[in-house]
Amino acid sequence: MYNSIQDTLIIGKKVIYLPSCHSTNDIAAEIVHAGLFTEGTVVITDHQLSGRGQRGTNWVANPGENLTLSVVLTPTFLPIQDQFLISQTIALGIKAYLEKYISGVEIKWPNDILVNRKKICGILIENTIQGSKLNTSIVGIGLNINQIYLENDLATSLSGETGSELTLGDEFAALIRCLDAAYLQLRSGNRIAEIRSAYMNSLYGYAEEVKFSYKDRVYTGTVIRVNELGLLSVRLSNGDELTDLGIKEISWIRN
Ligand code: BTN
Repeated sequence: MYNSIQDTLIIGKKVIYLPSCHSTNDIAAEIVHAGLFTEGTVVITDHQLSGRGQRGTNWVANPGENLTLSVVLTPTFLPIQDQFLISQTIALGIKAYLEKYISGVEIKWPNDILVNRKKICGILIENTIQGSKLNTSIVGIGLNINQIYLENDLATSLSGETGSELTLGDEFAALIRCLDAAYLQLRSGNRIAEIRSAYMNSLYGYAEEVKFSYKDRVYTGTVIRVNELGLLSVRLSNGDELTDLGIKEISWIRN
């Protein structure tokens, strides 16, 4: 069902398709642990039984309607303190893929992908480290493609946005090509500033006020910075600033 992609340089040349599995990130981790991979190997399933999300949540998607996959990367060229660049690069690759169909694509810090303010894709990146460098990075992607009924009102799918049903195999190939192109930019080493500024310019809340909760209070403000470590700074509507927040410190409120 999902073919390996031969016209990319790194990602998707080897594709492992499992009709069902517990979590593609876990399968990818097992493959890495066993040393049985080349960089860019993709694990993809039609039916993920225990998909994992950020902050210990579950990722649930209707079987056979969406893209549920993990990519194994070996970004050994990146110092540990630059690991957020992987998140930024992958988010931009997914955004580029979606923009072939639709506008209104934004990245919600740190790396959710929104279309018209609704979540269409979640990313779970799990890194291993060796010394002061990154060793492997498992990039898990859950992208809603043909699922029309989503439990969460603040979620959407590509077909929900475009009105047409898509062929998963074709969308897989198109997505992988965009991820490969984005990763090649990162690997080239001379496009880092470009990646960081494209990420900032794509951020939900960067150019306009949005709502979020912090320490049990609701605030309105704009994103002013995401630093190299991936920590977020916001300017509140009263002019105060909250700086260098981690993922567990704030929750966005979209309505
Ligand atoms: C999130 O938004 O919370 C991240 C969701 C990530 C889900 C994907 S689906 C493929 C891969 N395998 C997993 O168990 N999780 C990721």
